[in-house]
Amino acid sequence: MGLTIALNRGRILKECMPLLEAAGIRPEEDIYGSRKLVFKTVDGDHRLVIMRGSDVPTYVAYGAADVGITGKDTLLEYRGGGGFYERLDLGIGRCRIMSAAPVGAGLNQSPLTVATKFVNIAEEYYESKGRHVSIIKLSGAMELAPLMNLADCIVDIVDTGNTLRANGLEPLETIAEISARLIVNHASMKTRFDEVQHLIERLRQNLVER
Ligand code: PRP
Repeated sequence: MGLTIALNRGRILKECMPLLEAAGIRPEEDIYGSRKLVFKTVDGDHRLVIMRGSDVPTYVAYGAADVGITGKDTLLEYRGGGGFYERLDLGIGRCRIMSAAPVGAGLNQSPLTVATKFVNIAEEYYESKGRHVSIIKLSGAMELAPLMNLADCIVDIVDTGNTLRANGLEPLETIAEISARLIVNHASMKTRFDEVQHLIERLRQNLVER
């Protein structure tokens, strides 16, 4: 049995599959046209497991997957304790976690009400700034919160900035630079060292060549 590799479905999956394929990890069937969640690979007897990004660290930490690929935002937000090493920056899925507010908003309120799905990241950030905040957890479409007077500002992923602009918001502070990372289960790093290292080296080589 080869490695079990947990992959973040969606945008990161689309960007990381060419990297995996160049490293010799090719699914036996079309990942995108299927509702299946587990795919065997053509060579190496590996398994690709497709899941929500926020579940990737959990599967890898518990050893249900040897290796995982997900966004740094997910890793920063994860509070499941250790269990994995972050071994490679894949340089894909680049974006930022930023605070944003309606254009021209003063944001002098205290506490400042912040809507986000990145509760831990936001809490740590504002605490480091000594800013008194009240955090409201949302699941998506954070841009709505200031428009609907649910929150003064948001902490969210910003890529092109189009979503902010389209909703009358402006980016304020950059909280973290994000890209997709490869993580490895602690035990797998020891017991499957050769296979894991081989994968990392092949991925790294392709990154350098790109
Ligand atoms: C993210 C984020 C913003 C948008 C930013 O949402 O939450 O809404 O992308 O991108 P932009 O700066 O290029 O406009 P995503 O589409 O990933 O969906 P999500 O709400 O499920 O996270």
